[in-house]
Amino acid sequence: MGELFDRTAELDRAFHLPTYARKKVMFVRGEGMTLFDDDGKKYLDFTSGIGVTSLGHAHPKVAAAVAAQMTKLVHVSNLYFVEHRDELAAKLIQLFGHPGKVFFANSGAEANEGCFKLARRYGKAKRGEGASTIICANGSFHGRTLAALAATGQASKQDAFKPLPAGFKHVPLNDLEALAAAITDDVCAVMVEPIQGEGGVFPCTKEYLQGARKLCDERGVLLMFDEVQTAFYRTGTPFSFQRCGVVPDAMALAKAMANGLPIGAILAGEKCMDTLQPGEHGSTFGGGPVVCAAALATLAAHEEQKLGENATRVGNYFLAKLEAFKESTGLLTDVRGAGLMVGVTLKDPIAARVVEEARAKGFVLLNVGDSILRFLPPLVCTEK
Ligand SMILES: Cc1ncc(COP(=O)(O)O)c(C=O)c1O
Repeated sequence: MGELFDRTAELDRAFHLPTYARKKVMFVRGEGMTLFDDDGKKYLDFTSGIGVTSLGHAHPKVAAAVAAQMTKLVHVSNLYFVEHRDELAAKLIQLFGHPGKVFFANSGAEANEGCFKLARRYGKAKRGEGASTIICANGSFHGRTLAALAATGQASKQDAFKPLPAGFKHVPLNDLEALAAAITDDVCAVMVEPIQGEGGVFPCTKEYLQGARKLCDERGVLLMFDEVQTAFYRTGTPFSFQRCGVVPDAMALAKAMANGLPIGAILAGEKCMDTLQPGEHGSTFGGGPVVCAAALATLAAHEEQKLGENATRVGNYFLAKLEAFKESTGLLTDVRGAGLMVGVTLKDPIAARVVEEARAKGFVLLNVGDSILRFLPPLVCTEK
């Protein structure tokens, strides 16, 4: 760590709101799965940002698409048609595999906020004025804006910011009886992450998602998936719902869609794709031609490089290796995940120390709390 690091860290301390406990490292360049710090030291990246740069760092086709659009047209507002936006929407619906429509936002939290508005509008129209409550899961994470925080099932993240917007309630994950009891007349939607990411990589069971689908259909409420972290082949399929064969009525998307450029989306299926009307939702930056060009290049490269197959194959290899490590050492109490979204629980509460020591050895990892390690490598990751 040299002069550039010292100067940057000093500016950060002096002028940045202290919302992040940053690690003592500064990455200045990336290439594929490799990151380089300001001293030229190499690291293998097992985080992809946090599930963002699935194609690896500095992908040439994404860079070229961004550069070309940057020199042509950057912004004109959403009042006009622009290149790439509608082609990207069509591509997302093709990947979804069912009729639907898309709204572009800038982040995961914003995509979720849009889903909540959509659900409330739908609930009021279909179930009556009082149907505005959204059911979420304990341990979930849906973002840091106020309604997304209210949806997040983690009191530790919420308490300092109360009062939060009303109209969210939480149920235990994978408990269908609790879900059935929670869908009362005031409910308009259920939202779950197919695999809880920030909570520590806890998957919904297939039976739970199938049961939730059935309950939502019977009661006339929307089933919405927060696929912000699980989408775009992270778990092997374009969207994680495709692993379980349960189609949601709406989804929130973001993270990996443009390999690091900020983009989010609401994807609404047939039931609710015409629910929001002109003037009822909007965004200054959402769906601009530069991010949409980046996203189209990203989605094309996902397919060209067969990242879904790679995530499944390498993910299964990784899970098997971790399982064998668990059996032979007794240092892990649980190994779980799908594709290249993998979590392990450590026997001892040393996750933060493992992350620090791994970084010293050239591996970038993530921990969740004291005892969970989370692996979200770029989907170009190989067995080696
Ligand atoms: C499942 C899920 N939803 C929402 C978000 C929030 O996304 P953003 O940070 O882009 O607002 C995250 C971020 O980690 C997430 O993992």
